[in-house]
Amino acid sequence: MEQFQWPNQGAARLICKSRWQETPDCISFTLTSEEQDKTFSFIAGQFVTLGVEIDGNTEYRAYSLSSLSNQTEMQFTVKRVAGGKVSNYLNDHLQVGQSLQVLPPAGQFHIEQPHTDKILLLSAGCGITPVMSMAKTLLADSQDRTEIHFIHAATCAEQLIYHAELQQMEQLHPRFKLDIMLEDATNTDYLEGRLTQAALANYCPDIASRTAFLCGPVGFMQAMKENLAALGMDMTLFYQESFTPAESTQPEVEDTKSKAAALAHATVFVPSFGTETKIVTGSLLIDALESAKVPVIAACRSGICGSCKCKVTNGDFTRTSSETLTEQEIAEGFVLACSCQIHSDVEVSLN
Ligand code: FES
Repeated sequence: MEQFQWPNQGAARLICKSRWQETPDCISFTLTSEEQDKTFSFIAGQFVTLGVEIDGNTEYRAYSLSSLSNQTEMQFTVKRVAGGKVSNYLNDHLQVGQSLQVLPPAGQFHIEQPHTDKILLLSAGCGITPVMSMAKTLLADSQDRTEIHFIHAATCAEQLIYHAELQQMEQLHPRFKLDIMLEDATNTDYLEGRLTQAALANYCPDIASRTAFLCGPVGFMQAMKENLAALGMDMTLFYQESFTPAESTQPEVEDTKSKAAALAHATVFVPSFGTETKIVTGSLLIDALESAKVPVIAACRSGICGSCKCKVTNGDFTRTSSETLTEQEIAEGFVLACSCQIHSDVEVSLN
């Protein structure tokens, strides 16, 4: 079968082939090409960026793939979240047969990163998607000998994403070990509680000799990273990903009057679009560009996907991520707008 050819620039249009309720607030979708006979190549752990039209605007968001590469369908799972514009839209409106814009798979959180022959896949909630793809990929390769310990945390049994599939993987593959911890383990054999350092050590006594791939909500990830370091893991063999937006560094000021007086302002100038936007210093560049209606794509808003790359040609800024940028691009002033705080008047180029 032929591989799907992504356009050299911009998004492809793919079709929603199927959708099903994964848990009460998560839906899984598959995407396929219009001809439905092309395969999609990616590295397990990578994400795609989806563009959906909501109220006349195209909103972009990144979703990790949970399926195997080189299939005619790509699978991802979307959790409904309070105020989640795109996630709720997809849950409510993306139906079988509808098309949407999709940017090619991307990301550095993937199974081809250097790893030892024993790995720990550690996730919570919807963070399971990329590590599920990694597990499936390693198990699908009969030559591969990697021992996989898959530890997943969720609130309760009904919130377990891919539960039946995980149980089946454990039954079929002696080199796949599954442990699940639930905050409420009523009517299950799983342990109840939170994944503490002691719980991790108990589940996985050889944790220090493993390579870890971690994905989940930001608080969970911070705690797990500290736990793994404290348990002696070699942190050069630790990989993580979380789509959690960066925050601006605007100072907190109490009342509106003193706020106006206290906050310094700067201007974001984009010559190619003829826009000038006044912002409070410390604001994120992406917010300034979006309020000026400059057509910049911000898919992950977390400094991971690289879609919001642009160049600051003049002025002061700081970065909280330069994930997808090369050393040369960094030296030349390229930034990820979602992870770039502005500290003076700046001039920006989108090319
Ligand atoms: S939106 Fe993904 S890196 Fe900025």
